[in-house]
Amino acid sequence: MPHKCREGAPVAGEDVNMSNAIISVKALVKIYKMGDVEVHALRGVNADIMKDDFVSILGKSGSGKSTFMNIIGCLDVPTRGQYLLDGVDVSSLNKDQLANLRNRKIGFVFQSFNLLSRTSALENVELPLMYNKKITSREMRERSLNALEAVGLADRSHHFPNQLSGGEQQRVAIARSLVNDPVVILADEPTGNLDTRTSVEVMAIFQKLNQKGITVVIVTHEPDIAAFTKRNITFRDGKIIRAMEVDKPRNAMDVLEKMPLMAVEDEI
Ligand SMILES: Nc1ncnc2c1ncn2[C@@H]1O[C@H](COP(=O)(O)OP(=O)(O)OP(=O)(O)O)[C@@H](O)[C@H]1O
Ligand SMILES: [Mg+2]
Repeated sequence: MPHKCREGAPVAGEDVNMSNAIISVKALVKIYKMGDVEVHALRGVNADIMKDDFVSILGKSGSGKSTFMNIIGCLDVPTRGQYLLDGVDVSSLNKDQLANLRNRKIGFVFQSFNLLSRTSALENVELPLMYNKKITSREMRERSLNALEAVGLADRSHHFPNQLSGGEQQRVAIARSLVNDPVVILADEPTGNLDTRTSVEVMAIFQKLNQKGITVVIVTHEPDIAAFTKRNITFRDGKIIRAMEVDKPRNAMDVLEKMPLMAVEDEI
């Protein structure tokens, strides 16, 4: 489905109100060393992502999307360059401080859900809370149930992953990403393993969370999915080659309402 985009949105570091940027990277370089070979995964990336943003990262395979997500998610560190997360200079932190910041501020969602298979939906969602020694098991349960409710899965809390559909498993993963009240959710190809309708359902959840004030950044290969976000950033060869504001982001709930059910059954 076509969607209009406007070029020149403030993504690439210029003319932005820095105080509003939740993620701010400057001249980010990532070089992987493989023996004698150097892989230049990021070659000078500048980007500011604002608090109310919903950004999609596009680009061909190998263009640096996951490397960028891993760095902004504090799962990896850049070779050079600056990264401010919610105003904190990440390069100044040691390993423990980094892990702490990551747990408090960021929720992750992956293409393959990454749920523990012998563990119920509720226990999967509770997992990130285990690191928090101050929280009681009762609180843990309450927060996890709230997170499952937020993704419409309160009635599936005792199901194991293999008793859930792909879309439901991804919603459990989103609940898990929510349980620590993150300011940012990072999702690397969250709809990559889902059929069309389920993908739109997942985008509806992300849109709802974004409306509640959570910054959302997703990687996707599909322009139709990127059309549900507010901004599209395209990577090529480790650089941002395009940053566009989506003129009228598609509303996932509206799209779901208009989706013919027959087509859904055909897909399944
Ligand atoms: N741990 C690593 N060690 C060495 N090279 C790596 C590593 N991770 C990524 N690379 C290389 O860095 C480049 C960027 O990889 P990245 O995973 O960021 O791409 P991507 O845009 O996410 O691709 P895809 O769409 O296939 O997921 C690629 O050339 C890749 O081979
Ligand atoms: Mg990738």
